[in-house]
Amino acid sequence: MQVKNICCIGAGYVGGPTMAVIANKCPHIEVNVVDVNRERIEKWNSDNLNELPVFEPGLSNLVKKCRGVNLNFSYSVGEKISNADMIFISVNTPTKKKGIGAGKASDLKWVEACAREVATYSKGHTIVVEKSTLPVRTAEVIKSILSEATISDLKNNATKTFDVLSNPEFLAEGTAINDLINPDRVLIGGDNGIAIDSLSEIYKNWVPNHKIITTNLWSSELAKLTANAFLAQRISSINSVSAICEATGADIREVSKAIGLDSRIGPKFLNAGPGFGGSCFKKDILNLVYLSDFFGLKEVSSFWESVVSLNNWQQHRISKLIVKKLFGTLTNKKIVVLGFAFKANTNDTRESPAINICKELLEEGAFLVIHDPKVSIKQINIDLNLKPLEISNRLESNTQTLEGKWSKAFDLEKSFIDADAVLILTEWDNYKHLDWKKISKLMRKPSWLFDTRSMIDPEEFSNTKINFWRVGDGT
Ligand code: UDX
Ligand code: UDX
Repeated sequence: MQVKNICCIGAGYVGGPTMAVIANKCPHIEVNVVDVNRERIEKWNSDNLNELPVFEPGLSNLVKKCRGVNLNFSYSVGEKISNADMIFISVNTPTKKKGIGAGKASDLKWVEACAREVATYSKGHTIVVEKSTLPVRTAEVIKSILSEATISDLKNNATKTFDVLSNPEFLAEGTAINDLINPDRVLIGGDNGIAIDSLSEIYKNWVPNHKIITTNLWSSELAKLTANAFLAQRISSINSVSAICEATGADIREVSKAIGLDSRIGPKFLNAGPGFGGSCFKKDILNLVYLSDFFGLKEVSSFWESVVSLNNWQQHRISKLIVKKLFGTLTNKKIVVLGFAFKANTNDTRESPAINICKELLEEGAFLVIHDPKVSIKQINIDLNLKPLEISNRLESNTQTLEGKWSKAFDLEKSFIDADAVLILTEWDNYKHLDWKKISKLMRKPSWLFDTRSMIDPEEFSNTKINFWRVGDGT
């Protein structure tokens, strides 16, 4: 079956970039991205490409090239489903907040809602592709909803049939377009060879054959969870060693380099930091924890749960040590926070370590001046659940208390005036080349730089009066 019309439900960080790449590589396919969130769709359709809801290097060029040609963004969900012969489900699957499995299991209400919409609006034969990361055996839920539609449709003498495939996304934010164009592998899980071939044919337009691997449905679903769990586990492992380095006089950068040269370990994902963030790692590990508990595998669930505990501890330990270095109190002390996104080159703040760390510093009474090149003031407001002040300086405050308050740094240089500390939380390139000699003159003494991303060369500090701490540096 040759696919001519694709509908992707969910115009988020996964659906948007993935469909832009498919549209660009497959001009013979019409690609429609739909979303229930009208505001989001309007942003995707905005003439100003800086207003796209997702910031991702290279994305706006693809949207410019394909939008209105074979790539469309729309909120007419039913109409686009009914025209499609392949439907990708790319909706969010947050961790459940209440009920059975609360705090661990994924909430599948959106996936179920999508399956019901597909059941209602689709026509003829439709291939449904799970793109969202899902708990193992979710395809079964989708299949059973769809098979009800097949049965009731038959009663009306029509024929509505479905295949369900799992095709997890391995893109990382910030490098999504390159990850999609040059993937390490494309994984397709399913039990019908014809449906698998239909999806493979799409990828073959730009991905070499040997990189397209096929498995059964459950292996594909589990492989996605496992890949994220392994990556997250590496970060917790290296972060645990960063604390040992600080205690013993070793240096985490040297340790990472030394172990990464072992080809069995490899050099990637060994950067110690403030802990992992992003929408996937924590949620996917908690999914594994839930799954293991469900099958009575207590030791397995404890093992994976400890990866998340270590991550929480790393964030907490950073805010604690800042308090300690600043004489045990942050009341009315000004801290300039550099970076709020969970990593560089994205405007995404989901599970960003900056959220917990900033909240803890605010609770200690600090005044935070937060800078991020891409995260909006509105988003920081939502994440901290606290409205910003309009001033960034003690001198402007008059009688207003700055204790436990924050403001956004619009002019980075001015924000250093009178600051007690600078805290680097995201590794944006613009923080690499700051003039620390100049900044040192602007700050209140004793002043500190806390570098949680190993961005700054300690040599640059030899001529300044700023005290310097960086993660995993026991030297
Ligand atoms: C990702 C991945 O798809 C998933 O694998 C991962 O586990 C978490 O999130 P992402 O694209 O990053 O999704 O999520 P998000 O940016 O929140 O986008 C999801 C979109 O789906 C939202 O715009 C939301 O409005 C939309 N949606 C949700 C629908 O259109 N219909 C629904 O029923 C539910
Ligand atoms: C991740 C997976 O990499 C991707 O394959 C999957 O599809 C979605 O989840 P993402 O969350 O976008 O992607 O970013 P990633 O680059 O994996 O970083 C996750 C977190 O780990 C970030 O907070 C990052 O700063 C942190 N990290 C990463 C480290 O602290 N150290 C490292 O060495 C690497």
